[in-house]
Amino acid sequence: MIVPINTYSDPVLAMKAKPLKGVDSSVEELIGNMFESMRNASGIGLAAPQIGSSLRLIVLDLSCMESHADDKPMVIINPRVLSVRGRNCMEEGCLSVPGVVGDVVRPSAITLHYRDEKFVEHTEEFSGMMARAIQHEIDHLDGTLFVDRMEKRDRKKIQKDLDAISEGRVKADYPLARDMAGVGARS
Ligand code: NI
Repeated sequence: MIVPINTYSDPVLAMKAKPLKGVDSSVEELIGNMFESMRNASGIGLAAPQIGSSLRLIVLDLSCMESHADDKPMVIINPRVLSVRGRNCMEEGCLSVPGVVGDVVRPSAITLHYRDEKFVEHTEEFSGMMARAIQHEIDHLDGTLFVDRMEKRDRKKIQKDLDAISEGRVKADYPLARDMAGVGARS
């Protein structure tokens, strides 16, 4: 089922999400909905809070990117960054902040402890786009958006766009939660 995406200034995006205790049929259904909603929006990653579930659960699928065509979809549950290396600057965007992009500096590689869709534990190293995407999604679990990590000067330039999203004056080619609440219809 495609679930509308919550957008900037929605309280669920500012909350610290709760760890999962296991994977039952309701979590499996949520994972399915997350993949469906993410692909419908042409996203490469989605965190559960973005569709209104404040749980430490992330889905990723970079295979729509030419350089990652062979990548398998991935489920990350209860992630914990054990260590980081390097730093780089990349342009990010977010399905919860439609139409906005900005430069963000983050570690370039991470060692991650997480559980997969079967709740099996893994410790794995990630670099490149995967490290970038995972860190962006983990931020969602801690109530942080990429715009919160932008340089003040850059952030000022997009403040108008953020205000517009807060007020529901935003359109995307995928369903937004505000449409459902009728807030988007407000002038
Ligand atoms: Ni995002």
